[in-house]
Amino acid sequence: MTKPRVVLTRKLPVPVEQRMGELFDLVPNPDDQSLPQEALFEAVKTADVLVPTLTDRIDADLIRAAGDQLRMIANFGAGTEHIDVEAANRAGIIVTNTPGVLTEDTADMTMALIVAVPRRLVEGSQALLQMNGEWNGWSPNWMLGRRIFGKKLGIVGMGRIGTAVARRAKAFGLSIHYHNRAPVADQTQAELNATYWDDLDDMLARMDIVTIHTPLTPETRHMIDARRLALLKREAYFVNVSRGGIVDEAALIDAVEDRRIAGAALDVFNKVPNVNPRLLELCRQNRITLLPHMGSATLESRIEMGERVLINIRVVFDGHRPPDRVLPARR
Ligand code: 8YV
Repeated sequence: MTKPRVVLTRKLPVPVEQRMGELFDLVPNPDDQSLPQEALFEAVKTADVLVPTLTDRIDADLIRAAGDQLRMIANFGAGTEHIDVEAANRAGIIVTNTPGVLTEDTADMTMALIVAVPRRLVEGSQALLQMNGEWNGWSPNWMLGRRIFGKKLGIVGMGRIGTAVARRAKAFGLSIHYHNRAPVADQTQAELNATYWDDLDDMLARMDIVTIHTPLTPETRHMIDARRLALLKREAYFVNVSRGGIVDEAALIDAVEDRRIAGAALDVFNKVPNVNPRLLELCRQNRITLLPHMGSATLESRIEMGERVLINIRVVFDGHRPPDRVLPARR
């Protein structure tokens, strides 16, 4: 059997590329830069499999330009909003992703961000550095934050990551509330002692911390808009480790600037790589904490994501259904 030609749009962890090199006719991208769109158009003319990441735009035009040999788009990552799955499906191209393997790391990072703003983590660390050895010691009124133990956490989207966040948050003494298309299984709800809110607005108005864990779809784009942000309590914190597009970022900035909410922590943005300068300014003022999309950034996650990609490709070329097939959303 001839090896499938697999084109990587980004440099992947070394062990992943090594194994892919053994199994496939691998076309790596040695630069740690996204491929320009023209290079993607070239790639799909000869690739049997394209392995993109969220920084690539796999739209209907690109899929139309693909040669008949393109059998699969094996995404390195869980979110697939950068891929026109419907167009791929129509063209008979299989789309897969890498769910599951990045759940725990993303939940850890969410928990870190839930703590970061109320407990002034980044600010404290920076203050120590700025004092450059001149710190005159502990003081009863210095660096006071807000307690998170006993507060209400509202989770928007109770899938794998939302549930993993809930488990951690429960151990931190937060009470768990969530909004989802449907309640989770009774056993999970009981284990988490969680409260289901059918109405998102009702939940938002009552939470101390809100964290977002839904995929980005046409339905969830700007789901958190100015109107919903206005429902939040003045003391509430807002956390987003999912996708920037779920929130109206300008409205969120207004809410923090005007002190209509207490603060925010974001790992994802509306515009990448040019993050809104108003967000950067709020970060300088320690009113928000910003991270550069680090939710799943552990060596372990990235290797396991690569392994899922590899398994999905292998299974398809062995003539079976891949474990992580992504189908177009039902309407
Ligand atoms: C990945 C992510 O690193 O998997 C996802 O959906 O958001 C990230 O954590 C990224 O997608 C890689 O393509």
